[in-house]
Amino acid sequence: MTKDKSAGLAGVIAGHTAIATVGKEGMGLTYRGYSISDLAEHSSFEEVAYLLIYGRLPSQKELSNYKEQLRGLRGLPKGLKTILEQVPGDAHPMDVMRTGCSALGSLEPEGKTRDQIAIANRLVACFGSILLYWHHFHIKGTGIETVTEDETTAGHFLRLLHGKEPNELHRRALDVSLILYAEHEFNASTFTARTIISTLPDFYSAVTGAIGALRGPLHGGANEAAMELIEQFSTPDEAEKGIIQLLTAKKLVMGFGHRVYKISDPRSDVIKKWSKKLAEAAGDNRLYPVSERIEQVMWREKKLFPNLDFYSATAYHLCGIPTPMFTPLFVMSRITGWAAHIIEQRGDNRLIRPSAEYVGPEPRPFVPIARRTA
Ligand code: ACO
Repeated sequence: MTKDKSAGLAGVIAGHTAIATVGKEGMGLTYRGYSISDLAEHSSFEEVAYLLIYGRLPSQKELSNYKEQLRGLRGLPKGLKTILEQVPGDAHPMDVMRTGCSALGSLEPEGKTRDQIAIANRLVACFGSILLYWHHFHIKGTGIETVTEDETTAGHFLRLLHGKEPNELHRRALDVSLILYAEHEFNASTFTARTIISTLPDFYSAVTGAIGALRGPLHGGANEAAMELIEQFSTPDEAEKGIIQLLTAKKLVMGFGHRVYKISDPRSDVIKKWSKKLAEAAGDNRLYPVSERIEQVMWREKKLFPNLDFYSATAYHLCGIPTPMFTPLFVMSRITGWAAHIIEQRGDNRLIRPSAEYVGPEPRPFVPIARRTA
């Protein structure tokens, strides 16, 4: 079957949004009109979460109240801890995120006393707790306290992961990464969330579905796949050889290419600088040089550029984060974008139900089973 031009809905305008622009000429990526480079340079993840969920930047007082509110939402109910203890220790952490979100939807359902904004904030605050409660329970055989006093979501995550005061460079690198991952218009997981919410279910159902869509290696799962690729090589020359082999075999090189961006991903430039800074601080002389060589080869051979996932992989690795937690970190950030889109879709909803071009058999008579030959 020939691939038609709109396969994968490429280039199809599937709705309106006032939340983000992606790849618009001269604008790169914006969240509610603010450029990603300004946000990454001057704001914090919590400020961006507020911007996306409430629709405007917070004042100083609103931001400090918001951070305090998030701090107060990091604890997990007993029922959820019990469920997380039952998720096998060798499950993929994205199973934990999906199950944790779905379970919370039963334990703290949306309703008269809990609205969509409250749920959005709860999930922003506790996704890290969900992952790391499960992680430590299966290592230590006993639960951990998930309430921390860290001001930031990045600090909360790193403290729970490493069990100590977060390194300041790592904390800010993770904070910037969460800003970069927060929102990206009608990507596959966000469109999934909007499609689900358009049928009028509860908030958690849309987020649970979005987590499933994010997991695949063509979307969020690419950051883990990129790390697995980079780690295979000991030197830039080895990486060059390996990448040429992959391209010759017509294999995908994870962390490269993008449906909308055609020349570069503006988020990659930002995370690449952080990856370099982290590599210098760690005295790394393998992963970063290998990554840079892969970037050069991909551009030279295919005119393909790194997307956000490629340098995020080394950045996360250099912060001491295990590879299977990379895509869950995407969830911890993108929950803010999903929430904004769920709220926007609900504000002007129409069931999302496109049509398909039928390419199956012509109408034909039904043959009763007794008379079927094959
Ligand atoms: N490695 C090798 N070749 C590639 C890559 C890649 N990473 N990306 C695209 N190409 C090639 C395709 O094979 C295709 O070649 P062809 O014309 O000879 O068939 C051509 O470039 C066009 O690519 P499409 O598959 O049509 O691009 P599409 O818009 O459908 O896919 C996608 C975009 C899924 C991101 C793709 O580039 C890809 O698979 N990349 C790797 C996975 C990845 O990094 N995903 C993360 C996305 S960004 C994010 O989630 C933060």
